[in-house]
Amino acid sequence: MIPSSPAATAATGRVAGHPVDPLFLNRWSPRAFDGAPMPRAHLLTILEAARWAPSAFNIQPWRFVHAHRDDPAWDTFVGLLDPFNGGWAHRAAALVVVLSDTLVSGDGTRPDRPSSTHAFDAGAAWAQMALQATALGYQAHAMAGIERDAIRAALGVPERFHIPIAVALGRAADPVVLPETLRAREVPSDRLPLDAIAFAGAFPAAGA
Ligand SMILES: Cc1cc2nc3c(=O)[nH]c(=O)nc-3n(C[C@H](O)[C@H](O)[C@H](O)COP(=O)(O)O)c2cc1C
Repeated sequence: MIPSSPAATAATGRVAGHPVDPLFLNRWSPRAFDGAPMPRAHLLTILEAARWAPSAFNIQPWRFVHAHRDDPAWDTFVGLLDPFNGGWAHRAAALVVVLSDTLVSGDGTRPDRPSSTHAFDAGAAWAQMALQATALGYQAHAMAGIERDAIRAALGVPERFHIPIAVALGRAADPVVLPETLRAREVPSDRLPLDAIAFAGAFPAAGA
């Protein structure tokens, strides 16, 4: 069902240019998390949503390695983020490292071959994860700022897997928990207008 009004938005204050489900506007990337744990069943639901993402030939190249804040591995996971991200993501309820398989496995007749869509497919899985988190009352914050060599070594990630992002999951909190410099950035962002990114028929000529 198409929502009836673009103004029928959003806890975030975002307004769509065309009617969309409010879930898309209510997903955002806070850095202030409340430091509370998340029930293990909720993380499994969030990962389950990612599992149902579409992928080329249904190869499902995504893999997830995760820790809850009350797991013994928590400090190790926080230490695998870059210092900027570790400075706020330590208040998340869970951290998920997203991997994507750069190879399509061969069989008796064909060798392994490079995948041209693994990153795109893993991106779809991340998006589903984030939207399911929002639907459960959490938020998910993707982080490209991670220590990839350290992740590979600490988590035993095989060489064939790319490590695009880690994800911080938790309940958004009052920005007061953040250092002054980050507080002002703690607002849901806007987007380019649709006519700047979607073109009927052909890409617009330069200068048009
Ligand atoms: C692939 C990816 C990598 C990102 N890396 C970081 C990061 O390292 N640190 C950070 O604070 N935010 C990071 N972000 C969050 C983006 O800045 C954020 O999604 C973007 O500004 C749009 O805001 P919104 O998610 O609140 O709608 C990343 C987002 C994506 C999708």
